[in-house]
Amino acid sequence: MSQVVRFGVSLEKELLARFDNLIEDKDYPNRSEAIRDLIRETLVKKEWTKGREVAGAITLVYNHHKRELVNKLMDIQHDFHQLIISTQHIHLDHSNCLEIVVVRGKPGEVEGLFQKMRAMKEVKHGSLTMATTGKSI
Ligand code: NI
Repeated sequence: MSQVVRFGVSLEKELLARFDNLIEDKDYPNRSEAIRDLIRETLVKKEWTKGREVAGAITLVYNHHKRELVNKLMDIQHDFHQLIISTQHIHLDHSNCLEIVVVRGKPGEVEGLFQKMRAMKEVKHGSLTMATTGKSI
């Protein structure tokens, strides 16, 4: 484990009160853990702008009765197989499917794959969770 360093932070009383409220709402045990998460979140966002390898998850919801859509989504995933680590398909009900596509690669490529799938007419929901490989944070 890396060395832990203590440092002081000066900020306005009102801002600190708002931060403490936020910490309580989010169930953080203390300010340090909340600040650590904020710093890591910023570092992850930076990774996505720098072009280093990133990891994430694409979530899609669609109606599987739209057969053409199902085929197209499958074609796209095969075209980008080098970016896809795994796919999980959940049958939500008689019609709706939830698919989670776990991805790893260059940010631009991953976002390109996500946009291709989300932009499809019959996809009801699409989101990209920008995570990290964890190597540099
Ligand atoms: Ni299904």
